[in-house]
Amino acid sequence: MREETTNKSTVKIEHFESLSSTNEYTKQCLENGASCPFWIVSDEQTSGRGRQGRDWVSIKGNLYTSTAQLIKANGSTLSGLSLVTALAVYEAIQQTSSAPLELTLKWPNDILIKEAKLGGILIENVSEPNAQVSEVVIGVGINIQSSPVVEGRDTTCLADQQSFVKRDDLLNALIEALDMWLKRWDNGNNFTEIKNAWCERAATIGAPLSVRVGQERLTGKFAGLDEKGALKLELEDKTIKLITGGEII
Ligand code: BTN
Repeated sequence: MREETTNKSTVKIEHFESLSSTNEYTKQCLENGASCPFWIVSDEQTSGRGRQGRDWVSIKGNLYTSTAQLIKANGSTLSGLSLVTALAVYEAIQQTSSAPLELTLKWPNDILIKEAKLGGILIENVSEPNAQVSEVVIGVGINIQSSPVVEGRDTTCLADQQSFVKRDDLLNALIEALDMWLKRWDNGNNFTEIKNAWCERAATIGAPLSVRVGQERLTGKFAGLDEKGALKLELEDKTIKLITGGEII
């Protein structure tokens, strides 16, 4: 694996023309004893994976990357990592974009422009459930040049927004931004700052929201996040339901 220097740090990165999935390859590297942190990037993926068992269409021109990180936390503390990564992705896009963008974050970790999906994050914990230190694979896909057609879902890409970004500039900005937000999060000891930063960039409090949890569909209003990063959904009867899994529709 080559060592490369971004503006601020030296990191291990391996580049590929094609992989089945950067998350899968990163997991293989860990199984073969690679030490964290490192980054994998591929021009395309032949079996890119999204959340909830979905495919992630991965043709050339967009960013497909995964990183393996060691986090000194486990259990519900780790769920904050979704928000940490979303903040890093948001910041990397803003920093490298050649045009102003109206980015918003959607719980738990989508990056949107006016309701259309620009990027997504897939986090996989590969450690034993109660390990003190967790090995985590964080996969990020950002639509730079093309947006896949996804049934029932608006998608967009940076080029559609007149924002022309080089893939490797975006990757370097992401590496630095993730490093910075991970330090701020401090393995979960400073979740409050992450929560506040995430909420500032997310749908406003009171916005209507529908959430699918398994087969159930719940509707209400966005009421912020709780102290562990769960979504607070205000139901019609004004009670607050905490959502730790599921998906906003
Ligand atoms: C989502 O469903 O929103 C998450 C999408 C995550 C896609 C990225 S692309 C790089 C990495 N490798 C994968 O197979 N998936 C993630």
